[in-house]
Formats: sequence, C-alpha cells, structure tokens
Amino acid sequence: MSTDLYDVIGRRRDVRAEFTGASVPDDVLDRVLNAAHAAPSVGLSQPWDFVVVRDLAVRRSFRDHVEQERAAFAATLDSDEAKVFARIKIDGVLESALSVVVTYDPSRGGPAVLGRHAIADTGLYSVCLAIQNLWLAATAEDLGVGWVSFYREPFLRELLGIPDGIRPVAWLCLGPVTRLRTTPDLERHGWRRRRPLDAAVHHDRW
Ligand SMILES: Cc1cc2nc3c(=O)[nH]c(=O)nc-3n(C[C@H](O)[C@H](O)[C@H](O)COP(=O)(O)O)c2cc1C
Repeated sequence: MSTDLYDVIGRRRDVRAEFTGASVPDDVLDRVLNAAHAAPSVGLSQPWDFVVVRDLAVRRSFRDHVEQERAAFAATLDSDEAKVFARIKIDGVLESALSVVVTYDPSRGGPAVLGRHAIADTGLYSVCLAIQNLWLAATAEDLGVGWVSFYREPFLRELLGIPDGIRPVAWLCLGPVTRLRTTPDLERHGWRRRRPLDAAVHHDRW
C-alpha cells in the first residue's frame, strides 16, 4: 500500500484492461467508501449514495447497454477517429471485481442548502469530490478504478431501481489490477495528449 498523497495522485489511472477479476476484501471496500464519504460537500449536504453492484446479471445488462452507446458514439466519428477509437477499451464492467454507482440527491439537506443558492451545480461538484476521494483511496489500496459514462441515465435508473429525482453520476469499476499504467490509455492509443500545466495556469486575468 502506498499512502504518500502526491505519489497516490501521480499513480492514479483510469483502468479498463488491467483488472484481474479478484475480489475486494470487505475491510478494504469499507475504507475506500469511508474515504468517499469523507469528501467536502456544499452545505454539508453529503448528497451522494453508493450502490455496490456485484450481481453479474446486472453488470451484463449494463455492459450490453454500454456497448450500444459505444456504437452510437463511434457512428459520430470520422474514419480516422473511428480507427483510433476501435482500439480503445472503454470499460472493465465484467472484468473487475465489482462496481460502485455513485448517485446525486439534489433534495438532500434542502431546501436551504447553505452555499448552493447561486450555483445549483455545487451539489454535483460535491458528488465528484466523493468520487475523486474514492479513486485516490482505491489507488492507495493498489486497486484500480474505471469511470464508465457510456450510458443513458434513465436506463441506469431503471436497472438499479434508483428513485425519481436522484441522478446516477458515475459507474465505477473497482478491483485488483495487474498494474497501473504510467500513461493514460487515451494518450497511449493516440486519441489525445495531456496538456502541460503551463497552458492551464493564468495569472491575474484569463
Ligand atoms: C467524468 C468522467 C467520465 C469518464 N468516462 C469514461 C468512460 O466512459 N470510459 C473510459 O474508458 N474512461 C472514462 N473516463 C476516464 C478518462 O478517459 C480518463 O480519466 C482520462 O483519459 C485521463 O486518464 P487517467 O484517468 O488515467 O489519468 C472518464 C473520466 C471522467 C472524469
């Protein structure tokens, strides 16, 4: 296990192909979910929930849906892009030990959520912070995480019985991995390169 924060941030990767399929011990999953639940949130609303999905039949249904969405995206690409995309794996739903679906409840802590009156999206930002905490904690535990967003929200809501008004924000594949690569898959496959920090930092004005 590696716990130096900068080291963990540097080692974190989005994982698709490197899941071993081995299980995640309950105490490890507990620590990772506790880390997610420790995230900051607007007005201390903690608007997230975590659905731990182990059921293979449910994961198969989701995977079939992801395949359809992959095809729909591929159909929008020009032929050069399509060739690159064809080489890129976009999920490890069936190969990983389990999945964690993270949801957002905009009514949590309301109606007067302190700090959300001017920026409704702060609720969603809070959920993303929980996801990042989960991702980093999993990396510290030498587990891989893969965020899958090739889905339609109504499909996932129906599949998991998520109540009306609650939004699924992420399907996260989670589990032991053979290794964490040093280069993001999208860069490795020539889809897109990382921007240098210098290009992202502005001083005093945009
Ligand atoms: C909101 C969000 C959605 C993503 N959806 C997918 C996805 O559906 N499939 C996939 O393979 N990767 C997905 N990713 C992972 C990104 O492709 C990945 O983070 C990026 O290429 C950088 O690689 P790294 O995370 O290994 O540094 C997603 C990441 C984020 C933050």
